[in-house]
Amino acid sequence: MTGAETLFTNISQLVTPGVGMQRGAAMRDLTVIPDAAILVSGGVIRWVGPRAQAPGMVQEHDLGGVAVVPGLIDPHTHAVWAGDRLADFEARISGVPYEEILARGGGIRSSMRATGAAGVEELVALARPRLRALHASGATTTEVKSGYGLDFDAELRMLRAVRVLQAEFQLVPTLLIHVPPTGGRAEYVQAVCHDLIPGVAREGLATAVDVFTEREAFTVDETRAILQAAKAHGLQTKLHADQFHAIGGTELACELGALSVDHLEASGPAQIAALAASNTVATILPGVTLHLGLPAAPGRALIDAGAAVAVGTDLNPGSSPVFSTQLALALAVRLCRLTLAEALTACTVNAAAALGLSDRGTLAPGQRADFLALHSHDWRDLPYTLGASPVRSVVVSGTEL
Ligand code: NIG
Ligand code: FE
Repeated sequence: MTGAETLFTNISQLVTPGVGMQRGAAMRDLTVIPDAAILVSGGVIRWVGPRAQAPGMVQEHDLGGVAVVPGLIDPHTHAVWAGDRLADFEARISGVPYEEILARGGGIRSSMRATGAAGVEELVALARPRLRALHASGATTTEVKSGYGLDFDAELRMLRAVRVLQAEFQLVPTLLIHVPPTGGRAEYVQAVCHDLIPGVAREGLATAVDVFTEREAFTVDETRAILQAAKAHGLQTKLHADQFHAIGGTELACELGALSVDHLEASGPAQIAALAASNTVATILPGVTLHLGLPAAPGRALIDAGAAVAVGTDLNPGSSPVFSTQLALALAVRLCRLTLAEALTACTVNAAAALGLSDRGTLAPGQRADFLALHSHDWRDLPYTLGASPVRSVVVSGTEL
């Protein structure tokens, strides 16, 4: 064993999904241990079980008789941006569709103008409180995408801001190829494949490449070229697909063995079947459904078909100003018809799988000691609560914050 050992005790219920990606009905298989304890050393879980069977002669940390679950993992955010989208919001609420605002040069493109003009330090200062909010809501690991860079230098500044923030938070950086320029898109895709991706891989600035595959963004052929370049440079792949139209992104991602396909609001039976037959995680983003008034992603149908479903906030200024990973979990139950147990699995071990991580997301020996102590003795307050935080404290690497 490494370092001093701490035994976390007085846990009314320890609740965890199994180790590794859980698909279909297995998403409902939670282990629930009443009056539990967790032994931690060196930031890693060494033992979990009933308090009565815990090893003795160890320093104890009394958690006060509340429920404990794994730290949440937010597998999809755009937490780095400058400017705001308040005028877009007001226009949308009076009836202008999101896609139309984008087609008119607003929306994502207006965030690109503001973000492209910001330096690394400013981006860090803007993103920090957002990441603090996600952390306080229970996210112990958070993915953060680029994608608001007007040009490649701005994309790199976004990723450098994420790198600075990695000193304070556990972050997983993704290079997002978001919307094409209005002219010269073939040259742009070539430059993404031959300059941007190799440079990002060389500097280790991202672990995955994501593309927005949509009528107003990249075609399936352009996406294929970008994802193939990512793989050739040793990067993982993921996709924004089927948000408004199912144009073939999901099928492509499954064919190429992407880590995840995210959004899926417009997915139908063919896309659900492709995901269920693959090891690609289906990441659903119920905050977008709430904020844009879009149809919900078919979470229930995906799980019933046997897919592995994850849930994220998609925190961003345009389609999901959701600053709480716990709220995303709670919304997945209401809007996408996940059961309480499925939602916990979706926000923990399956979200880890969507990021290619197998060392977190479940409470078991060998896993990182990242977990949440709730205010309640009953873990179901986590999916139940809306508008206040049911999370009392966040433990990262065995340290209660
Ligand atoms: O995940 N759909 C594309 N990208 C983001 C939205 C970004 C924005 O509107 O600024 C999303 O919804
Ligand atoms: Fe997104």
